[in-house]
Amino acid sequence: MFVVFDSLTGQTKRFAQNLGYPSVHIKLYEGKPERDIFLVTRNINFGSIPETTKSFLDQYKDRVVGVAVSGNKNWGENFGRAGDLIEAQYGIPLVLKFEGSGFKQDVAFVKNWLIEKEERKED
Ligand SMILES: Cc1cc2nc3c(=O)[nH]c(=O)nc-3n(C[C@H](O)[C@H](O)[C@H](O)COP(=O)(O)O)c2cc1C
Repeated sequence: MFVVFDSLTGQTKRFAQNLGYPSVHIKLYEGKPERDIFLVTRNINFGSIPETTKSFLDQYKDRVVGVAVSGNKNWGENFGRAGDLIEAQYGIPLVLKFEGSGFKQDVAFVKNWLIEKEERKED
């Protein structure tokens, strides 16, 4: 598993690095064909998907096994909406919406999902 994060101010980067897998900023990903990717991204205006994430998904969506989205609940119904859009538009499972760089339980939830995902793959 390889974690790719789209981060402007560092929150998704911190979350991504806490997952314990090799990780890289979305702009530096160089297409390692053999690996499944877990994406950690963020929101821009009114819960839109950042352009950097869109162009990454246009190229690599088939390798992305799941997505987690950092947002802020101050945005009300648009909290983490980019994650809903990614799920709807690209068919990638939305695993979690979290605030900022996430709480310990947020990191644990995604770690656990990834472990179970890898176990399912081995069956
Ligand atoms: C211009 C702007 C718009 C945002 N819009 C939303 C939004 O609609 N919904 C949401 O949940 N978070 C929104 N956010 C919050 C970011 O998703 C959040 O701060 C995220 O942690 C940023 O990740 P980063 O530090 O890795 O860049 C917005 C942030 C900015 C700067």
